[in-house]
Amino acid sequence: MSLAFEPVELPNGVVLKNRICKAAMEENLADIDHFLAPSHELIELYRAWGKGGSALVLTGHVMIDPRALGSPGALCLCDDLVDSDPAYLDRFRQMIDACKEGGAEIWLQINHPGRQTPKALGQVAKGPSAVAVDIGRLSRVMFDKPVEMTEEDIQVVIRRFARTAALAEELGAGGIEVHAAHGYLLSAFASPIANKRTDRWGGSLENRTRLLFEVVKAIKREVKSPKFGVGVKINSADFQRGGFEEQDALQVIKTLNTLGVDFIEVSGGSYESPAMRGINLSTRSAQREAYFLDFAEKAAALSTVPIMCTGGIVRRETLDQVVASGKTIAGIATAIGIMPDLPNRLERGEDPAPRLKYTTSWVLSGSVLASATTRQVNYSMERIGRGKEPCPGVWPAWALLMDQVAGLGQASKYKKVVVKYLDERDGRAVKRGKKEE
Ligand SMILES: Cc1cc2nc3c(=O)[nH]c(=O)nc-3n(C[C@H](O)[C@H](O)[C@H](O)COP(=O)(O)O)c2cc1C
Repeated sequence: MSLAFEPVELPNGVVLKNRICKAAMEENLADIDHFLAPSHELIELYRAWGKGGSALVLTGHVMIDPRALGSPGALCLCDDLVDSDPAYLDRFRQMIDACKEGGAEIWLQINHPGRQTPKALGQVAKGPSAVAVDIGRLSRVMFDKPVEMTEEDIQVVIRRFARTAALAEELGAGGIEVHAAHGYLLSAFASPIANKRTDRWGGSLENRTRLLFEVVKAIKREVKSPKFGVGVKINSADFQRGGFEEQDALQVIKTLNTLGVDFIEVSGGSYESPAMRGINLSTRSAQREAYFLDFAEKAAALSTVPIMCTGGIVRRETLDQVVASGKTIAGIATAIGIMPDLPNRLERGEDPAPRLKYTTSWVLSGSVLASATTRQVNYSMERIGRGKEPCPGVWPAWALLMDQVAGLGQASKYKKVVVKYLDERDGRAVKRGKKEE
């Protein structure tokens, strides 16, 4: 019998009603006029996901620093913005409540983009070392070479992760997930390709992963309730020669087991090698519909903390394979992005296997194709937020173009509203002789 719809208890005592998690998907639906708080469309999208049958809904990555966004429409939850506007915290609360109303747990995925900060936002990209993202010809257009973080920068990042988690708790979220995968800051620190440091934050695996562990420890200290959940998403590998490898990931999982986390989600890749979207996978991973299931099984064998396996799950049979061991839960992104009530349908015995159309293209390839198929999902998510039907048949190139156009408008508004507010606020602080963080 399938375990997919059997409840499972997490280490913090929270019982998930089934083993399906809506994995994190950046929605690009922040309301920039309300300082990167959720828009009404986003609140409605979470209402749909909340009642769709997923036991756990992970939000798209929420930024911890308004001067370091992963995309122009990203949410940002941080102390800097709490006084910006009375609606700011309230919108986050509404989004969380809308999701909970439907019976799902909601945890906020929190993130710092590191060197993958898009150039269009005019921010100073910071990373472990001054090693630029390499996605081929478009690299220079999309990303600046990052500035190497100082010790102070690193301490600020640790503090910011902890504060965003504390705010999420105050707002009623059940937990947070630390994003340490896909080439963003924490995963870049872990990767020998992006991290060339020679201090205590670089070199050995222990040093490269120190930042992740310090972040987790700081969050555990900062949040009030021992029941507040802490998950971590890591790469099973970077899928690049000389990068973070499977053995490294298994070691990270062993250490995370000692830090009191509630689940460890496994994925893989980065902008440079988008394995998480099914591209550049090793042959063995590509053979499985759930890309990282082999790895998840190895991880589950050495972990008492539940392992979440995310990537490629669409059909009932694959879902059943993923949860079969009883130690692994299933993370589903794309399929729930285009069909929010997929878990309910599966529970009723349907097997709709929702897929995007036209995901191969002779115009687009590699990182650009991965980005375009991601934007196809965003296209449907925005429609759902506006009360319309999803549209998995949108052309990837069209979805990408629409996203780029929207992004230009969002980036310009971000500079006019958010950066202006922060500059004025920092200016006032400097005048008072107090540099605020
Ligand atoms: C629209 C979209 C946005 C995504 N944004 C995030 C994100 O914010 N954080 C994250 O960890 N992964 C993100 N991902 C990756 C997914 O969580 C997941 O790892 C990946 O899509 C593989 O799962 P799937 O095959 O079920 O889509 C995103 C994926 C999509 C499609």
